[in-house]
Amino acid sequence: MKQDLTAPVITIDGPSGAGKGSITQLVAKKLGYDLLDSGALYRLTALAAIKVGVALDDEDKVAELAASLDVAFVPGEYGEPVNVLLNGEDVTNEIRTESCGTHASKVAPLVKVRAALLQRQRDFQQLPGLVADGRDMGTIVFPNAPVKVYMTASAEERAERRYRQLKEKGEDVKIATLLSEIQERDARDTGRKTAPLKPADDAVMLDTTGLSIDEVLNKVLDLIK
Ligand code: DC
Repeated sequence: MKQDLTAPVITIDGPSGAGKGSITQLVAKKLGYDLLDSGALYRLTALAAIKVGVALDDEDKVAELAASLDVAFVPGEYGEPVNVLLNGEDVTNEIRTESCGTHASKVAPLVKVRAALLQRQRDFQQLPGLVADGRDMGTIVFPNAPVKVYMTASAEERAERRYRQLKEKGEDVKIATLLSEIQERDARDTGRKTAPLKPADDAVMLDTTGLSIDEVLNKVLDLIK
């Protein structure tokens, strides 16, 4: 479906692990809006490249894949992640791994890949409204969004949150490794030339360090009001 410019958009940007994903889902649920997990598109692009044996730095080929991705997002139950299908195959868990995140951060700086994904992301703007989560939602994809949030948290706290999530899933990880991966990914996301991670001029800054999910949710809902 084509983008509906009359539909309201709430953008939630920030670094990995700031809690954007959970908050985006809860806000979307609360308002009955659709949700765009833009990071999933970069993860899917990287996964698609790996599956067909395209090198992650082959910009033209990766961009071609990004333009032709056959993706479906199937909403989950309350609090459950959205199920993600690539060519009809359920890749929900596969795209959530640390290695897929690292691969995604390698294709994300490629200009042609970002261009290939731009309109696809904008077409998620539909009535009754959209909550969009990513790095450049407020700056590039939806610059006219009436509500823009930029969520941060200290790298240490983000590493701890990620550690708890992965432990729950039974993955064996070290917190120090997660911390250095988060710091490397932050550096790649903020340091790249195309669409670097930065708050939009009109974004509201929200530091979630030490806050519970409910506290963050209430702050975001207050902003929307
Ligand atoms: O939010 P995430 O961890 O799923 O994102 C995966 C990678 O994709 C991360 O390195 C940043 C990149 N990304 C991006 O460049 N632009 C977006 N709008 C969303 C994610």
